[in-house]
Amino acid sequence: MERSQITNYISANKDRFLNELLDLLKIPSISADPKYAGDVNKTAEAVKQRLIEAGVDNVEISKTKGYPVVYGEKLIDPDKPTIIVYGHYDVQPPDPLELWDSPPFEPVIKKTALHPDGAIFARGACDDKGQMYMHVKAFEIMMKTNTLPCNVKFMIEGEEEVGSANLGPWIVENKARLKGDIILISDTSMIANDTPSIDTGLRGLSYMEVEIIGPNRDLHSGVYGGAVANPVNVLCKMIASCHDENVHITIPGFYDDVVELTKAEREEMAKAPFNLNDFKKDLDVEMEQGEKGYTTIERTGIRPTLDVNGIWGGYTGEGAKTVLPSKAFAKISMRLVPNQSSEKISQLFHKYFESIAPKSVKVKVSYHHGGEPVVVPPGSKAFKAASMAMEESYGKKPIPTRGGGSIPIVALFKKELGLDSILLGFGLDTDALHSPNEHYGLFNYYKGIETIPLFYKHYVNSK
Ligand code: BES
Ligand code: MN
Ligand code: MN
Repeated sequence: MERSQITNYISANKDRFLNELLDLLKIPSISADPKYAGDVNKTAEAVKQRLIEAGVDNVEISKTKGYPVVYGEKLIDPDKPTIIVYGHYDVQPPDPLELWDSPPFEPVIKKTALHPDGAIFARGACDDKGQMYMHVKAFEIMMKTNTLPCNVKFMIEGEEEVGSANLGPWIVENKARLKGDIILISDTSMIANDTPSIDTGLRGLSYMEVEIIGPNRDLHSGVYGGAVANPVNVLCKMIASCHDENVHITIPGFYDDVVELTKAEREEMAKAPFNLNDFKKDLDVEMEQGEKGYTTIERTGIRPTLDVNGIWGGYTGEGAKTVLPSKAFAKISMRLVPNQSSEKISQLFHKYFESIAPKSVKVKVSYHHGGEPVVVPPGSKAFKAASMAMEESYGKKPIPTRGGGSIPIVALFKKELGLDSILLGFGLDTDALHSPNEHYGLFNYYKGIETIPLFYKHYVNSK
């Protein structure tokens, strides 16, 4: 198919393509909060309708133990390859609400420095409704212009933002109909609108929750303070001792399985454009910080990390209450890099956290969801096709990069189905994913819709 066929179709349907996405963004499909269960299911229904309208066959809302998977397919020829499109229709909670400039589920379009053509501001605009919906529109274009070159299967899930715990079993149960050649995903970022890139890896994740238990009840901090362990004080010290002065993680064995990149690989990585001053300016920080001996790009791409995601205990209400809390809590996540195992790291953390606790407190450690790291070989046929597609639509060869985030199901696609994924992401890291004022550039949305059919073409032609 000619690129002009795609761009003509997009031009003729520009407003409709946008309005359809805006409608999807109005439904608060927050998978983490049971209050929104009705809206999450409503979004699945809406996605199903859109797939049907675009011409997908056998579309169904397929039950899991949690939120359903919207599944559908277009099988045109058993001798042609099959692309499986994966995305998610659930979104992160929008909190803290007061930091949004406009309500998270009332999308508005505003210009920004990085998006001079305008960006859609709404929760899920980029992660992942906007990026997922590009695939539905790209499919519509191929159907309407009679240029669909291969079979397609859609699986759009509703629990990615809470760890996809029920999708693994669903994949196993649906193995028979998930036969295909490649998983195509738009749920990652690229460097900049004039610098296309493709992620060649994602980090894994171990997510823990810890509880430090001190005295059997909250105490008067004057009457008892100084004579009994304060669990919040203790927890802070324990967390602080998870890193040394070089921001190296101190958990014994933590780095044992990490694959160090060769000098040549690191030099290759360093070629990607990155401006540390812009990075600091965007975040309003005087100074970056991270593991000694690595660059900022390496710290987020090829190095494992440990971060507190939330910490609480004691009195946090208005004014001052003098109290020595009985308990303290924290949620701690570790991002993992290729060859590290989520289960092994969780166990190492558990053992270490217990070992550094003073006798004056009790420690409880529990495990949340995890996921394994993945690598996408940049020499693969799918990577080459993605590279050619981006080169055709952007007029520039994309740069291979490593994504810092996680999509746990990608490792399971490989394990259960034997399938590699291609991470054809069109968002920007600065699009405020998971943050207040999440947005997605209109340029990025339309460019994604344009690039996807080109990927199909190059992928099928290279067979
Ligand atoms: N789309 C993101 C992952 C992502 C974002 C990868 C940007 C690369 C670049 C995904 O929706 C996500 O947020 N994943 C979670 C993991 C999940 C288990 C909650 C994450 O990375 O925190
Ligand atoms: Mn996502
Ligand atoms: Mn996300």
